[in-house]
Amino acid sequence: MTAPTLQRCDACGHELPERDARTSCPACGGLLSLVHAPPAARGAALRALFDERLADAAPAHVADAAGAARASGVWRFRELIAPGVSDAEIVSQPEGNTPLFHRPSVAAWAGVDALLLKHDGFNPTGSFKDRGMTVALTQARRAGARAVACASTGNTSAALAAYASLAGLPGLVLVPGAQQVALGKLAQTLGYGARTLLVRGDFDDCLRLVREGAERLGVYLVNSINPYRIEGQKSVALEILQQLRWDAPDWIVLPAGNLGNTSAVGAALRDAVRLGLIDRAPRVASVQAAGANPFALGFREGFASPRRVKAETVATAIKIGDPASWDRAASVIREFGGVVTEADDAAILEAKAAIDAAGIGCEPASAASVAGVRRLVREGVIRPGERVAAILTGHVLKDPGVLLDYHRAGRDAPLVNAPVEIDATLDGLARAIDAVAS
Ligand code: F0G
Repeated sequence: MTAPTLQRCDACGHELPERDARTSCPACGGLLSLVHAPPAARGAALRALFDERLADAAPAHVADAAGAARASGVWRFRELIAPGVSDAEIVSQPEGNTPLFHRPSVAAWAGVDALLLKHDGFNPTGSFKDRGMTVALTQARRAGARAVACASTGNTSAALAAYASLAGLPGLVLVPGAQQVALGKLAQTLGYGARTLLVRGDFDDCLRLVREGAERLGVYLVNSINPYRIEGQKSVALEILQQLRWDAPDWIVLPAGNLGNTSAVGAALRDAVRLGLIDRAPRVASVQAAGANPFALGFREGFASPRRVKAETVATAIKIGDPASWDRAASVIREFGGVVTEADDAAILEAKAAIDAAGIGCEPASAASVAGVRRLVREGVIRPGERVAAILTGHVLKDPGVLLDYHRAGRDAPLVNAPVEIDATLDGLARAIDAVAS
């Protein structure tokens, strides 16, 4: 292989050059994956290269493209993500380098001692999507795209809008209308300047429409079927491994909707084992919302054939009934001794309340991962002594509507913290203080 990267169809093996802007196989319509030339270093030498860059990622470096690339938790792993890209080509905020929290109260709620929360809501637009979008917009410019487009439940659109602005390219997003997108996400998308189309339909309609239209209308599609998105999203798993000094956890647990992130985490683990970064792979658990659970249904049937449902859940980010990356994600679950489970809306909201009350917070879909851990512990699939890394995919401020509704006065649910109205008097204040501090 002469070029450092080529694109290969998952289904029929057809190959395309690295800069080809199509995001599905022209021969059979299958999804494309990137294949990179193996890095020069492996094992301890490759770990040392990544660790050295981590030590060098001071914010003072961010003033130019090369500095942003150095400070990014995505581009630190560039040999595994996009080895042919030069510093000057990179479109980066920077992103990644998100914290890995241990919060005993959340661990106790979930029923496992060593629960680590990888908080990707600490990315620049507040979700893990920035990891894929830095690579997708870098590639959009390399491929000479005239505009970029996506369908979204809100986070991809916010990330697209921000990175398209950074890249100087027009961005177009298709999101489900009728208030199906959380307020923070819609606000970001508009604010960052993407053309926002409110589609009369759900996310599955938006994705079908943009897939049909993008190639025909000459815009570059940056949904997670775009292989460059997947490459960038691999970095969340690589960061977890690096933060644990390359001593892999027993489990990585994450919420699942369109299944791009499950595919990406699996692809990263594949690389990490193949290149000797770790000597044993974690198991992967994907968690769906009970009302948007086609992949969980498929898992119970041995993934005999793709399932579709009409999705309904409070976790609007994963309100997806017909996931695009089914085959890839199914391979990941099979390969990493994985499981797929589901959490109902009440469990998702309770997990979210526990995570919020621990002082870090997350959006509803993200809490599905912790709700999933609790269920898997209760079912005996995860043992309480195992070390579990759960990915929190989005920031607490993404969905203030669901949060405020949960904490409204009179609601009967765990950890409700309704606001208290008082008279503007010292007496009123004294009574309020007596009620919280004894
Ligand atoms: N968590 C959050 C916060 C998300 O926004 C998404 C997906 C997921 C989990 C699921 O990841 O689709 O790769 O399985 N959001 C997409 C969007 C669909 O448009 O923002 P997945």
